[in-house]
Amino acid sequence: MELPGGVVVWAITRHDTLQQLLADPRVGKNPRNWTTFTEGRLPEGWPLLNFVTVPGMVTADGEEHRRLRGLVTQAFTPRRIAELQPAVEARTEALLDGLAALEGDFDLREHFAYPLPMQVIGALLGLPPKQQDDLHELSDTLVSSSATPQAAVAAQRGLFALLASVVAAKRAEPGDDLTTDLIAARAADDRLTEEELVGTLLLMLVAGHETTLNLITNAVRALLAHPEQLRLVLDGEQPWSAVVEETLRFDSPVGQFPLRYAIEDIEVGDVLIRRGEALLASYASAGRDERHHENADAFDITRHGSRHLSLGHGPHFCLGAGLARLEAETALRGLFGRFPALAAADGPAPEPIGSFISNSVRTLKVRVG
Ligand code: HEM
Repeated sequence: MELPGGVVVWAITRHDTLQQLLADPRVGKNPRNWTTFTEGRLPEGWPLLNFVTVPGMVTADGEEHRRLRGLVTQAFTPRRIAELQPAVEARTEALLDGLAALEGDFDLREHFAYPLPMQVIGALLGLPPKQQDDLHELSDTLVSSSATPQAAVAAQRGLFALLASVVAAKRAEPGDDLTTDLIAARAADDRLTEEELVGTLLLMLVAGHETTLNLITNAVRALLAHPEQLRLVLDGEQPWSAVVEETLRFDSPVGQFPLRYAIEDIEVGDVLIRRGEALLASYASAGRDERHHENADAFDITRHGSRHLSLGHGPHFCLGAGLARLEAETALRGLFGRFPALAAADGPAPEPIGSFISNSVRTLKVRVG
């Protein structure tokens, strides 16, 4: 398929093929294996360039990937995630108090689905609350492939500058947060370059909130459109986790994720992917693959046995999967517990966000009933 800017890649849209290639050692994420990149054939200001070149675990393979990912994994162990539960619940309750005070219809995405994951990842990374909205705006531009090349480049510079200022502040005054831990890892034995340090923060910030924001939005939207399924959960017949897993499959928060590269020639059925060509993981398509998920276009929280790939698979499996699940379940349980009659506001259907990567709607107007 053709990406923005006329760049041609293989879109991997079938569940089984995607699962196989995500774990295939002949497929890497370091762009030095991509001929279009190494031969300088990318168009000037290509909007997805940041995703291909950001220094950090998402563009690294093998030992380098293990080193970069290893520096942050201890913050995401099941025990550390479980320890975050009271804080996630408290933030959820505070946001729900805010919703109760709003009058008339309001945008659930703006007032609930966004601030919860942003506050959680902000606290984990030690980002000053005052800068969180600025960081979100820049990060939105970064993942929005409809931004102009100039805006995308400016957003990336802005994010790097803001995060570099956070690093400087934490160097002067260390805190109890992941940024301080990463600075210590860099200082201890030079395991991390300054660029990798800021690149890792950027990745954690963007991956840590844009995705969960979409998951919460997409789940609420699906439940409001399927009240009979919401009833199953409110009556205790299905757990909130079933809503989260089905939303991940049905409306994958990460629609597609760029890019991977064939390190050798790879035969996939009767297709030959040549060494140096690029592959795009199409998570949203894989979630609707009829060959793998029966009645794939139906939102059905009672389905069993067809696992999704929407949190990735293989060595780059989502590092924040446990946190994302905790946040989404807590958010949904809290929201519908407080407002069981929540309903979509009257008006036109919400518009999709203009992004090649992020899959959700721009706004989700609701009323509390
Ligand atoms: C609903 C929420 C989320 C979804 C759907 C999601 C999805 C994904 C997917 C599909 C990948 C694999 C990308 C690829 O290589 O193709 C990934 C990787 C990653 N995710 Fe998530 N993610 C979510 C939440 C989070 C959160 C909350 C964090 C951090 C706090 C996070 C951090 C990461 C990181 C660091 C990676 C890169 C791992 C690596 O390259 O080794 N994600 N995520």
